[in-house]
Amino acid sequence: MELLNVIDNVYWLKQGRRTLVSLNMVRDRQVYGEKLFDIKSQQYREWIPDRSKLAAAFYKGFRNVDIKKGYKILYLGASSGTTVSHVSDIVGADGSVYAVELSEEMGIKLILLAESRKNIFPIIGDARKVKELVGDARNFDFIYQDISQRDQVDIFIGAVQSLLKPGKSAAIAIKTKSIDVRASSRDVIDQEVKKLGKFFKVTASINLYPYQKDHALVFVTKRQ
Ligand SMILES: C[S@@+](CC[C@H](N)C(=O)[O-])C[C@H]1O[C@@H](n2cnc3c(N)ncnc32)[C@H](O)[C@@H]1O
Repeated sequence: MELLNVIDNVYWLKQGRRTLVSLNMVRDRQVYGEKLFDIKSQQYREWIPDRSKLAAAFYKGFRNVDIKKGYKILYLGASSGTTVSHVSDIVGADGSVYAVELSEEMGIKLILLAESRKNIFPIIGDARKVKELVGDARNFDFIYQDISQRDQVDIFIGAVQSLLKPGKSAAIAIKTKSIDVRASSRDVIDQEVKKLGKFFKVTASINLYPYQKDHALVFVTKRQ
């Protein structure tokens, strides 16, 4: 089996077909039923594109994701922690993931996940009030948002403006049907990308089909 590096702690595992994997921070522990691979002295976890929009972006050929070892990440819409767990693998023990989730039911699963992954800081609350929720934690190196709400883009703009370091990047998973059920996905994405472009430099807009239907992952950079 051959490993090709994509970004810090993320690889394509080549064994006939290619499989995206991240270096498992907590040996022998699965998070959502993903496969584990032992290669030499390391263990890797499969990162499944129809379970994680960030993985889907890599499968669609995008690799310019500025998440690195040691980074401080703000993650809005963490759910039970599927994608959060891979981001936790990427930033490693010297990094941190502040993971915000509204639902108490999902939040409990997130808290349990954080018991074994010490770089995850679960926060149960509404991302609309993120500035109050994170307290003194500011100047994040990367912000990721995956929230299916009508005002998802406004929540994202507010968080990036107030909490991201200048010059750094952020990504939002846009669920078009949450914004407008009747309009075509393409029209909704164009409209929201235009809106984001008024505040930030839009660096990529990736349609996640066929891994995720009616979703795009949009990357922006905050100007210096
Ligand atoms: C599509 S799921 C996220 C999946 C997750 N990002 C992953 O890839 O593993 C969206 C999540 O956003 C949460 N959510 C919705 N509105 C929210 C809000 N205003 N603040 C924080 N979380 C919210 C939902 O409870 C849900 O768990």
